[in-house]
Amino acid sequence: MNRILVTGGAGFLGSHLCDRLIKDGADVLCVDNFYTGSKTNIAHLMVNPYFEAMRHDVTFPLYAEVDQIFNMACPASPVHYQFDPVQTTKTNVHGAINMLGLAKRLKARILQASTSEVYGDPEVHPQTEDYWGRVNPIGIRSCYDEGKRCAETLFFDYHRQHQVEIKVVRIFNTYGPRMHPNDGRVVSNFIVQALKGEDITIYGNGQQTRSFCYVDDLIDGLVRMMNSPAGMTGPVNMGNPNEMTMLELAEQVLRLSGSKAKLVFKPLPQDDPKQRQPDISVARRELGWQPKVALADGLKETIAYFKKIVA
Ligand SMILES: NC(=O)c1ccc[n+]([C@@H]2O[C@H](COP(=O)([O-])OP(=O)(O)OC[C@H]3O[C@@H](n4cnc5c(N)ncnc54)[C@H](O)[C@@H]3O)[C@@H](O)[C@H]2O)c1
Repeated sequence: MNRILVTGGAGFLGSHLCDRLIKDGADVLCVDNFYTGSKTNIAHLMVNPYFEAMRHDVTFPLYAEVDQIFNMACPASPVHYQFDPVQTTKTNVHGAINMLGLAKRLKARILQASTSEVYGDPEVHPQTEDYWGRVNPIGIRSCYDEGKRCAETLFFDYHRQHQVEIKVVRIFNTYGPRMHPNDGRVVSNFIVQALKGEDITIYGNGQQTRSFCYVDDLIDGLVRMMNSPAGMTGPVNMGNPNEMTMLELAEQVLRLSGSKAKLVFKPLPQDDPKQRQPDISVARRELGWQPKVALADGLKETIAYFKKIVA
């Protein structure tokens, strides 16, 4: 039986990954300090004898016996990662060192949940993996962006220097059930506002575009990457290249939730990117992966989840 460690396993993506790994027949150790994750995300798994949860902060060393490590621990939304930026950098950098050290000792494979934020404010659209990015090293987003960049550096240095088998995935915007209701991300914002009948806030004229990947698709990509041949280190982009305007997204949310909420327009924040879109040719070619879930289907699942939360 495959013993798999998931750091950040009680978070949005981590908990869905634990579900998938348990379903695939693995023995799963979920490690989390519950900073942004919650026990309710994994409560349904606690009855399973092959699932174990441990409260632990990855900035401290961990001793465990596993075959694979998914390093997902890190708050992902600006409100959360900017609340304690020093801790965010520590989670990214010390967390990566601790997990890579563990992988080295165990000769285990390790996958890093990196991010499209390593591209910063890009001059290249869509972003391909060979683009080095344009990141401000001293801004308020740097704890996350530079933390994740340094983690990637550590992964590749452990690979070159210590022959650790690494897998680096650059995740683009992902949505689905168990997202935080108040973390300021557009999909959860729109849905919560629609369900509460509050005005839906659109910044600018709503013509800026984003692309969103449904969580099940992303998790499938992570599992494929982990089980890919040893030479496939990445970095590999994962996300949904289907772009839509924020106005289109808001209209879909209103239609699918049956809400009568109104759209209100506010000035565009200064650092709001006009466009962000992944180039997923590498994932398509090397992993045979591409998103399958249509936006309307993903939104229906997500709205059903938030209906329970809002109630
Ligand atoms: N959701 C996305 O769209 C997205 C996009 C790009 C990258 N990612 C990356 O994927 C990973 C998971 O993101 P998410 O959306 O599930 O976020 P999340 O905040 O829901 O999950 C992060 C989890 O890590 C835990 N954690 C944070 N610091 C920790 C520490 N020091 N020790 C142990 N646990 C700690 C949190 O409690 C939480 O359970 C993150 O690394 C994030 O950077 C996510």
